[in-house]
Amino acid sequence: MVNLKALAISTFFFVSSLAASSNDWRSRSIYQLVTDRFALTDGSGPACSTGDRVYCGGTYQGIIHHLDYIQNMGFDAIWISPVVSSFEGPSAYGEAYHGYWPQDLYSLNTHFGTGQDLKALADALHKRNMYLMVDVVVNHLVSKASPPTFSSFNPLNEASDFHTKCLITDYNNQTEVEQCWLGDDNLPLVDVNTENDEIVKTYYDWIKTLVGNYSVDGIRIDTVKHVRKDFWPGFASSSGVYTIGEVLHNETSYVADYTNVLDAVLDYPTWFPLVAGFQTQFGNLSDLSRVITASQGAYKNGLFGTGSFLENHDQPRFPSLSNDTARLKNAISFPFIHDGIPIVYYGQEQGYTGGPDPANREALWFSGYAQDKDLVQHIKTMNAARKAAIAANSRFLSVPMTFPLASETTLAVSKPPMLALFTNAGVSGTASWNLAKSGFNGNTRLIDVLSCTVVTTNSDGSLVANTTDGLPQIYLPVSALPSSSNICTGKLGTGNSASGITTSSLMVVGLATFAWLLMEIGL
Ligand SMILES: *[C@@H]1O[C@H](CO)[C@@H](O)[C@H](O)[C@H]1NC(C)=O
Ligand SMILES: *[C@@H]1O[C@H](CO)[C@@H](O)[C@H](O)[C@H]1NC(C)=O
Ligand SMILES: *[C@@H]1O[C@H](CO)[C@@H](O)[C@H](O)[C@H]1NC(C)=O
Ligand SMILES: *[C@@H]1O[C@H](CO)[C@@H](O)[C@H](O)[C@H]1NC(C)=O
Ligand SMILES: *[C@@H]1O[C@H](CO)[C@@H](O)[C@H](O)[C@H]1NC(C)=O
Ligand SMILES: *[C@@H]1O[C@H](CO)[C@@H](O)[C@H](O)[C@H]1NC(C)=O
Repeated sequence: MVNLKALAISTFFFVSSLAASSNDWRSRSIYQLVTDRFALTDGSGPACSTGDRVYCGGTYQGIIHHLDYIQNMGFDAIWISPVVSSFEGPSAYGEAYHGYWPQDLYSLNTHFGTGQDLKALADALHKRNMYLMVDVVVNHLVSKASPPTFSSFNPLNEASDFHTKCLITDYNNQTEVEQCWLGDDNLPLVDVNTENDEIVKTYYDWIKTLVGNYSVDGIRIDTVKHVRKDFWPGFASSSGVYTIGEVLHNETSYVADYTNVLDAVLDYPTWFPLVAGFQTQFGNLSDLSRVITASQGAYKNGLFGTGSFLENHDQPRFPSLSNDTARLKNAISFPFIHDGIPIVYYGQEQGYTGGPDPANREALWFSGYAQDKDLVQHIKTMNAARKAAIAANSRFLSVPMTFPLASETTLAVSKPPMLALFTNAGVSGTASWNLAKSGFNGNTRLIDVLSCTVVTTNSDGSLVANTTDGLPQIYLPVSALPSSSNICTGKLGTGNSASGITTSSLMVVGLATFAWLLMEIGL
């Protein structure tokens, strides 16, 4: 008999050796981590005070040892902080533990492990059909001294390889944003002269070999708006993989241009109204839908392939802005029904509360990597629901999300076969969603994957839903529930009539489970 498993595995390895494109990434879900703060090689949990801004000991081997933790939540890609070497010892703003102060592009930061360790991480991910995204910095190199020691840089090492020093003061002057320096006099970020053809070629060659040497599947690019736009297409094509850029700006019209020069951007224009919308009960969810609709129209590929996130290493964590658990669950759920790729910043699943940098870079080992936490389960369910939606409707990844309802306090997002109902009412708030068009046919049985409650659309396809606990409701048709998934496992069986679960839905699930069992035992 043909060994199908071996065949599948060998096919997979063949496929995984090919560069991952934007399309390959669309269905993925990304877990972002700061390597230094994620896990140690020996599994120990040393002290790590974020305010000290020093290395705490995280490594690539540490990540490898905790891939089960990441994969169990349903993620199939990780984004790690920059890998190239930085200066040693303290600067005016501490050590370079986060990686965003590159000094030598051609050597790796040995705090995190060797090149073999990094390659081993890529291999371990690929064996699990997971992707590796590496963060890269082009805009600047950084030395500990001020004024900078140009000779400490590699491969550029002369003052003429950089723009003449001027610190950015006017962010409305794009020339200044591109050619002056980030940082300050205590620690200037030395701005690479990306107007020079030789230097451009150096960077294109560098990214090509970095991606190749370590089997990288995608790159996240730092400070993209600080380098001229026409530098990027050649850089992206030299990388040969999916490119997603950080353009930290709140205006869709400003960010949109960058979607023409890279595969995608991190969706900052949506992030601003996302945070503001759910931070208090006075936020405006209608404004969130307005910005999304504008971005869908302005970006090259709409919002497909963009990175949708609630937290990252540069911004205060959401719970530092709002302690309402219901609003938090609404906000955390949102990236999973967005057209783009959901990105969860490590620690969010453990309820970490760090404020602005450096407080938002807490060591994950203090959590014990607990998997029974409420938010871990919540994220696991959201990943499973999105995968189920993709499996049930291949157009999930190409049909733009629409808003059957958008008010200051309530929002309905339709992306068949998923319907998500959000509110910023909070734990003790009430809200109702009255949808003339739910996006489903009449008499369709829907299950809220979070509460496992079943509702049925009215005969005209309309739907009225209420909440008294402020939680989001994420609906999938009962018929779209996969036979084996993390969704409402074991909960349907204990359902009561008050939650609307009928015998017929139990039979559907039962039959599906039976069919799945038959497949598993090879019949
Ligand atoms: C913008 O910044 C550049 C570089 O600093 C400067 O030469 C130019 O005069 C500025 N333009 C305006 C309109 O201020
Ligand atoms: C990749 O490996 C080659 C061969 O060892 C080496 O020449 C090149 O510098 C490496 N690239 C990077 C970015 O480390
Ligand atoms: C973006 O931020 C600036 C500065 O805070 C503000 O003036 C502007 O109105 C914001 N734009 C949008 C679209 O929110
Ligand atoms: C909420 O946002 C919508 C869309 O941007 C806007 O029309 C409305 O006036 C805003 N509501 C308030 C109270 O600001
Ligand atoms: C929420 O609670 C955390 C931890 O107790 C605290 O650090 C944070 O400041 C609180 N945030 C708000 C907005 O109250
Ligand atoms: C939802 O609440 C509204 C207004 O409070 C009420 O009229 C309606 O009957 C409720 N619907 C459901 C399905 O509970």
